[in-house]
Amino acid sequence: STHKIAVIPGDGIGNEVVPAAIDCLERIAELHSLDLEFTYFGWGCEYYARHGRMMAEDGLEQLAVHDAIFLGAVGSPEVPDAESLWGLLIPIRREFQQYINLRPVKTLDGVASPLAVKNPIDLLIVRENNEGEYSEIGGRMYRGLPEESAMQTTVFTRLGVLRAAHYAARLADSRRGQLTSATKSNGIVHTMPFWDEVVAETVREYPEVTLTSELVDALAAHLVLKPWTFDVIVASNLFGDILSDLGSSVTGSIGLAPSANLNPEGDFPSLFEPVHGSAPDIAGKGLANPVGQIWSGAMMLEHLGHPEAAAHLQAAFESALRDGFGTRDVGGTSSTSEFTAAVLTAINTL
Ligand code: NAI
Ligand code: MG
Repeated sequence: STHKIAVIPGDGIGNEVVPAAIDCLERIAELHSLDLEFTYFGWGCEYYARHGRMMAEDGLEQLAVHDAIFLGAVGSPEVPDAESLWGLLIPIRREFQQYINLRPVKTLDGVASPLAVKNPIDLLIVRENNEGEYSEIGGRMYRGLPEESAMQTTVFTRLGVLRAAHYAARLADSRRGQLTSATKSNGIVHTMPFWDEVVAETVREYPEVTLTSELVDALAAHLVLKPWTFDVIVASNLFGDILSDLGSSVTGSIGLAPSANLNPEGDFPSLFEPVHGSAPDIAGKGLANPVGQIWSGAMMLEHLGHPEAAAHLQAAFESALRDGFGTRDVGGTSSTSEFTAAVLTAINTL
């Protein structure tokens, strides 16, 4: 059957890494007889400059008829980041109840890591993606006065924490059975103890899973010092955001890291995007590492029910890296297109 995929390249290097990943996906689709139908949406900061909004007014309705959304990155120095994020990505995540943000962190051969990591890393970060610290509740008062203040309320709901914890526990159950929950209940005395309680209650339903609750500051340090000891980490929206950037950097480069914004029930399209942003500092120079985008494409194939095609694509970019075709951020000399050509060759030969 046809999979309708909405493609939003977005801004900056999104316009370099998305075409690279689509080339790979099209080749994989041919070899595995998949019918992928790509529809392009030119939304982002240029669209904003012309129309005063990040996407079409009925953008969410246009996306809703697709089976998945494949996004590059949005953001530009000309548009305030809060505007670009809340004008496109966050409405998509919330409208389509993509309440899980799944971010794998894995050692890849051929990548020069800035840290001398002693053992291979293979962990998954499950970030709650719909609520928590990124709430719309709060405001600013008394601008410009000595009393000026700002506040923002963190919101955890039982349902929100429960479904993130279930998802993470199921994953841990299918892997090495170790679940680490990021907390800060010593300093944040209302919301984090609630998070801890709901996570602990949920994980009790999984007798094969061992739960460790760890203060997020210590957890961050452990992620740098002994990342290979983790299996699955579950974290709130803010903690998960920070830990996953850290995790990807530990394995070498933020350019490698993929992510899936999932609506696990499949009632709505899920969104697949690299962890990195639009990288205006290197945009247009052919320096962008497309691995995060290609890997996100593999996660999309998996989600659409094609694990063999996903594994084929995964094996191909891993092999291109192993053969020394990496871009500069991972210690290689290839351009975006040279690396992509190496992945296409690997797809054909594997
Ligand atoms: P960034 O991820 O764009 O860049 C951080 C650093 O990593 C830069 O030095 C960049 O050159 C490098 N880098 C990122 N991706 C790379 C790749 N694929 N290959 C090689 N090097 C790579 O984060 P930054 O600079 O904080 O944000 C830039 C813009 O992107 C901002 O407007 C921000 O709001 C937006 N952004 C958008 C995201 C999204 O669309 N999901 C996520 C993060 C940031
Ligand atoms: Mg981030």
